Amino acid sequence: MSLTFFLCWVCLLMSLLQCPVESQGRPKFFNVMEYGAIADGTTDSSEAFLKAWKEACEWKGRATFVVPLGKIFMVNSIMFEGSCKGQMVFLIRGILKAPTDPSKFLTENWINFRYVDNLTVSGDGTLDGQGKVAWPYNDCRKNPHCPALPVTMRFDFVRNARVHHLRSIDSKGAHFIIFGCQDMNISNINISAPGDSPNTDGIKIGSSQRIGIAHSNIATGDDCIAMLPGTREVNISDVVCGPGHGISIGSLGKSGDEDVLSGIVVKNCTIRGTSDGVRIKTWAYPMLKDTEASNFVYEDIFMDNVSNPIIIDQQYCPVPPCKFVPSRVQISNVTYKNIWGSSGSKVAVTLRCSWKRPCNNVVLEDIDLSYGSGYDGNATALCSHVNGHALGKQNPPSCLQSNWPPPFSSKFLG
Ligand SMILES: *[C@@H]1O[C@H](CO)[C@@H](O)[C@H](O)[C@H]1NC(C)=O
Ligand SMILES: *[C@@H]1O[C@H](CO)[C@@H](O)[C@H](O)[C@H]1NC(C)=O
Ligand SMILES: *[C@@H]1O[C@H](CO)[C@@H](O)[C@H](O)[C@H]1NC(C)=O
Ligand SMILES: *[C@@H]1O[C@H](CO)[C@@H](O)[C@H](O)[C@H]1NC(C)=O
Ligand SMILES: *[C@@H]1O[C@H](CO)[C@@H](O)[C@H](O)[C@H]1NC(C)=O
Ligand SMILES: *[C@@H]1O[C@H](CO)[C@@H](O)[C@H](O)[C@H]1NC(C)=O
Ligand SMILES: *[C@@H]1O[C@H](CO)[C@@H](O)[C@H](O)[C@H]1NC(C)=O
Ligand SMILES: *[C@@H]1O[C@H](CO)[C@@H](O)[C@H](O)[C@H]1NC(C)=O
Repeated sequence: MSLTFFLCWVCLLMSLLQCPVESQGRPKFFNVMEYGAIADGTTDSSEAFLKAWKEACEWKGRATFVVPLGKIFMVNSIMFEGSCKGQMVFLIRGILKAPTDPSKFLTENWINFRYVDNLTVSGDGTLDGQGKVAWPYNDCRKNPHCPALPVTMRFDFVRNARVHHLRSIDSKGAHFIIFGCQDMNISNINISAPGDSPNTDGIKIGSSQRIGIAHSNIATGDDCIAMLPGTREVNISDVVCGPGHGISIGSLGKSGDEDVLSGIVVKNCTIRGTSDGVRIKTWAYPMLKDTEASNFVYEDIFMDNVSNPIIIDQQYCPVPPCKFVPSRVQISNVTYKNIWGSSGSKVAVTLRCSWKRPCNNVVLEDIDLSYGSGYDGNATALCSHVNGHALGKQNPPSCLQSNWPPPFSSKFLG
């Protein structure tokens, strides 16, 4: 008996026994309605969602979890955990609503994916965090014990993922958090919360590598995007941000020991009506160890009425008073190229670095930022403890050395 012939018999036998080999690669849909979810927008359907996820996660082929179109479900804190046996597609076509009362949440997250590889979350649906009632509790300006409110969607230790075509509105805390993830692309996401809603960051990334964010619209009450220690190789492009606090690196330098943050490219973005544009912020705070934040490129960015369009602030202190010690975060290799538009404050460019660890190799190239309209005065730039150079057009006049490299003679004079 030839080997092929023998294998054929094995195949036949296995298919008769419904051997798992047969389901390998075969797609299957797991519709929450078939697991008892109730689409009235108020009954807690968490259990049905978990049941559907559990079966989907066990499926050896491509499993598609479906929240059907035109339906509204309320779910509480829910953890979708891997590892799963096959590729997972989480299709949100309808609307998911969070419980209104933040004290009803079982954990600090609303929808949490954890340890899932090869995940797609998509479907043109909506995540409604129902934050309005909760926000006053979370406002540190009004409540000194301001508790962190639930994050709408959080990814922990997820690898090889795509998140696209989703809408997130009125998160209680942050809209999206990405932590400990690798190889993840986010695109065509529409995030919105009122400009005065506290701590409703758009997308927060920490300890993650190779993350792309593209073609998205983020309007919120805090950072549109915030990148925290351990974040490396992030591309952000074609993002419209505002209202909010802009696209931020940091805040850094507050915990004793922080991982390096490096390799961020922000390209072709519009930032509108925000307090900050492209910002790097570090606390002037005692740390146990030095750390680094380096290799950032900001290119082709339009600022429309942004209070601080370009800012490095190594004395970040959102709630004064702060006791300042020099920051131990070394910032280096930061390029700002082709950034234009209007500044809502007179100082359009602020490079305020650490006096212990001055910023290195900061480049300003083709900057054209005017100070509002109807004001009699031009925008200005402020530099402190920064090494770098300016190229091309500089409006406001740069505070960095503009003839670079320095002429041979000047190096040796004095
Ligand atoms: C995820 O994808 C990788 C690369 O395509 C593959 O090697 C791995 O087996 C997949 N894992 C699952 C659970 O599908
Ligand atoms: C993310 O996008 C980049 C650039 O388009 C691509 O090279 C990469 O493979 C994508 N990663 C995933 C996980 O889809
Ligand atoms: C995003 O959502 C907001 C609020 O729901 C809406 O006003 C806006 O048109 C949407 N933007 C895009 C680009 O879809
Ligand atoms: C980021 O952009 C670089 C250069 O275009 C590309 O090589 C890389 O794959 C991109 N990474 C992601 C995650 O988009
Ligand atoms: C830049 O972004 C805008 C919208 O934000 C988009 O219409 C345009 O195609 C992008 N340009 C490039 C060169 O990608
Ligand atoms: C600029 O933004 C400020 C708030 O940051 C707002 O009060 C003002 O009306 C805006 N100006 C224009 C011209 O949009
Ligand atoms: C800054 O850029 C230079 C030149 O590309 C490179 O040699 C250096 O390693 C970079 N610094 C850091 C901290 O990555
Ligand atoms: C603003 O800048 C322009 C061009 O650099 C200059 O002509 C003008 O005098 C400046 N205005 C003031 C008030 O400094």
